[in-house]
Amino acid sequence: MYVFPRISLKPGVTEHLKSVFLNKEVLAAVGHEAAESRFQKLLSCLSHPPSYTCVRASTHLASLEEIRHKLGEELQNQMHSLPVEEVSLQILLHPLIPDVLLLPVIGPRLVKQLSSEVVVSAQCGSAVLRGAHVFAPGILSSPKYMKAGDEVSVFSDLEGKCTRGATSFQGRKVFLGNGVAEKDRSSIFCTDEPAKGIAVRMVEPLYQSPSFAGVLPSLAFLQNLPSVVVGHVLGAHPGERILDMCAAPGGKTCHIAALMGDQGEVVALDRNRNKIDRIHQNAQMLRLSCVKAYCFNSTQAVSSDPVQKTEGPPFPPESFDRVLLDAPCSGLGQRPIMASTWSLKEICSYQPLQRKLFRAAVQLLKRGGVLVYSTCTVTLAENEEQVAWALDSFPCLTLQPQEPHIGAEGMLGAGLSPEQLRLLQRFSPELSWDHTETTTPLPCRASTDTIGFFIAKFLKK
Ligand SMILES: C[S@@+](CC[C@H](N)C(=O)[O-])C[C@H]1O[C@@H](n2cnc3c(N)ncnc32)[C@H](O)[C@@H]1O
Repeated sequence: MYVFPRISLKPGVTEHLKSVFLNKEVLAAVGHEAAESRFQKLLSCLSHPPSYTCVRASTHLASLEEIRHKLGEELQNQMHSLPVEEVSLQILLHPLIPDVLLLPVIGPRLVKQLSSEVVVSAQCGSAVLRGAHVFAPGILSSPKYMKAGDEVSVFSDLEGKCTRGATSFQGRKVFLGNGVAEKDRSSIFCTDEPAKGIAVRMVEPLYQSPSFAGVLPSLAFLQNLPSVVVGHVLGAHPGERILDMCAAPGGKTCHIAALMGDQGEVVALDRNRNKIDRIHQNAQMLRLSCVKAYCFNSTQAVSSDPVQKTEGPPFPPESFDRVLLDAPCSGLGQRPIMASTWSLKEICSYQPLQRKLFRAAVQLLKRGGVLVYSTCTVTLAENEEQVAWALDSFPCLTLQPQEPHIGAEGMLGAGLSPEQLRLLQRFSPELSWDHTETTTPLPCRASTDTIGFFIAKFLKK
């Protein structure tokens, strides 16, 4: 049962995406009807959350079974407050990925709307659909006399039109479930300091999944499945020197360090100073000491001096055994997103930046080294077209098979050969959207019902 409208995009953006998914190569291969149907399913599935939560287990600190057991205990405690019929906790393994645990999301459930309404931002709404409570900064509107303890229905503002501090909102919104206010209205909107902490504790969410706030922080890390796949595809070994060029908040950096058994060096760069602390915090929380994080613009990370003078960036050419470029992108694969207010110009602005970063990545990689390029978007311009450009611009690069390869192959439209497309890994939830909620058992569904994501692996000869 699909409960939300399809993702709402600016008109130019919908037309652009449609032209991508109905490009000439696709039309020639599958015909108009199949291409159109895939595109329509994409628009539907992007507004819905995946049907499970993926947790990356810190298998450098404990065995998967041990972590699974502890997680079960912690989450059972959390569920004591729920009605008995809702307490069913499954924690499953993935057949091919050795360090993830999968927890089914229950929903959409039948929840009766209340008369008191709280409206939250689209970003906050997406987090609620994935199991979070409502934090104070996400609240846009609340009843005029809302007091801690009041029961409220929570809605997500679909078009970014609700004014912060409003007492009601008549615009387009979708129901996310019911909760209990933990703060008075005045302590959310009428304070000198920005309000912090949980403002509404969700007790009857439309999609039920455990809240992971504070749960086994060093052992259980929330991460989308394709992002975990990236760490494995990079294939780093203990003792190597790795560069993660766009690293914050450090989910993949820490995964790579964990896979290396914390032996060697993982250099994490990010241009955004505020986010560097998140990398440090995550590395500390996961007890990883081989991560070194620096605030730096990675397009400038190649030094003209062949000798390394300082500990941090810039670095001489050919300094790293492996490079991960998890590129800044238009993010159109994220789920759930109910509405994007981005203009076509913004969506199209990433290709040139990604190419600048890619050039630096190739220079910083040693010969014989591995470069992994990834994005969490669905456009051709940021994915297959970048691969075609890279193979054309850097004859030293060849595409490599990926391990594990659980996603689909690359999409037609960028002039790549069938062999090249087979080496790419595109997570395309729209391809299995019809079957998502039916009979497919979770561990199998987990590999297809993901966020939209893209991975390419290159070897530098
Ligand atoms: C997709 S996110 C990275 C997510 C991260 N790899 C993870 O798994 O947690 C892209 C990141 O690129 C950073 N970024 C954008 N332009 C950059 C640049 N020129 N140099 C370094 N980082 C950049 C952004 O600040 C953002 O944190």
